[in-house]
Amino acid sequence: MNATSKPGLPGQPHIAYQADHLMLEGLRLSDLARAHGTPLFVYSKAAMLWALAAYQRGFAGRQAQICYAMKANSSLAVLQVFADAGCGFDIVSGGELARVLAAGADPAKVIFSGVGKTRGEMKQALQVGIGCFNVESEAELDVLSQVATGLGLTAPVSLRVNPNVDPKTHPYISTGLKGNKFGIAHEDALRAYRHASSLPGLKVVGIDCHIGSQITEATPYLDAMDRVLDLVTDIEAAGIPIHHIEFGGGLGIDYNGDTPPEADALWAQLLDKLDARGYGQRQLMIEPGRSLVGNAGVCLTEVLYLKPGEQKNFCIVDAAMNDLPRPAMYQAFHQIVPLSPRTGEAVVYDVVGPVCESGDWIGRDRQLLVQAGDTLAVLSAGAYCMSMASNYNTRGRAAEILVDGTQAYLIRQRESAFDTFALEQLV
Ligand code: LLP
Repeated sequence: MNATSKPGLPGQPHIAYQADHLMLEGLRLSDLARAHGTPLFVYSKAAMLWALAAYQRGFAGRQAQICYAMKANSSLAVLQVFADAGCGFDIVSGGELARVLAAGADPAKVIFSGVGKTRGEMKQALQVGIGCFNVESEAELDVLSQVATGLGLTAPVSLRVNPNVDPKTHPYISTGLKGNKFGIAHEDALRAYRHASSLPGLKVVGIDCHIGSQITEATPYLDAMDRVLDLVTDIEAAGIPIHHIEFGGGLGIDYNGDTPPEADALWAQLLDKLDARGYGQRQLMIEPGRSLVGNAGVCLTEVLYLKPGEQKNFCIVDAAMNDLPRPAMYQAFHQIVPLSPRTGEAVVYDVVGPVCESGDWIGRDRQLLVQAGDTLAVLSAGAYCMSMASNYNTRGRAAEILVDGTQAYLIRQRESAFDTFALEQLV
């Protein structure tokens, strides 16, 4: 496949039916399900690199650093793929820092976001020499300066500004509006920059914003960019140089016919604006998560029982809200397709898991032709699924496979029940 063509299922370029078998890259998903059991997450390395390539094309000829927002999928081997491809990382906890270093990341390419960094996390990040702290409040500036001076170090900082732009996405994943807890209000930003540059333990290096997630239009990005550039002009006029400008992540993916711009097309528009305003040659940074991994992964799940009912037919599968929390949390839609399609007439089912909550559903009102024992693929499961998975109902988390061509690597073993309570003790 060349760099831009898109065979495969809609939105899923690396997944396609071949002779009635759903394939991911060069492997039959049914073979992987048989060998490793279900629920099973399977990721395509080529799909991740393909998604990354769209950003790389977009930034060709520019000074740009792509920092993968690892919260989307923080499995070590996934991080390794992006570290090997030259990415930096956006982290939001000391745990993510430890994890990304274990995967081989360069700490100088790590940026640390989040509204609630603890002193311990700041210390940990300063000691390994991370590239930048994205600071989210004036109070955090004071604490970070104290921690850095206590260690005899200087913390490189960027202030996350809240541009008050509506990203037009689910309210739980909007982050750049006035009512959100994130960032420093646009009107307070200049004061906060003056404060930061007066503190002994800090060195101002940049400015950043992140307005939300699963954004499917360019306009909110263009608006946020204007707001941020207005601030850069004011901050530099006050004598505080801004070395890098960072525009967060948030680009959406195609879950169900969504039509977000391609990363390179989006950045062509954004770079035009940057050039027009004279900032095109600055050091640029972004923090994409979902758009790099979301459509690179599927979750395979076995049909346990079909349960016809008067009002609803239920297709009960062995994956649940602990594996795939997005439908329960955001009423999110994931396509669900059979690994080996049958012929006949489809029935409308709610696809649900074994967890004891009515909120435990994976898909509602889906046309499926299935029998118990069949395996289904829940698509677009590469982002915010395994990284948000839990042990609710003492369900061990699923295993994970990374596919590279015709090679399958087990990158996470299935958690046993024992693993889920190994750190507990009786009194
Ligand atoms: N940077 C910051 C500071 C963020 O908070 C996020 C995501 C990202 C970057 C990456 O955004 P992305 O490119 O992935 O949209 N669990 C939700 C999504 C939560 C997003 C949280 N922040 C979901 O499943 O839809």
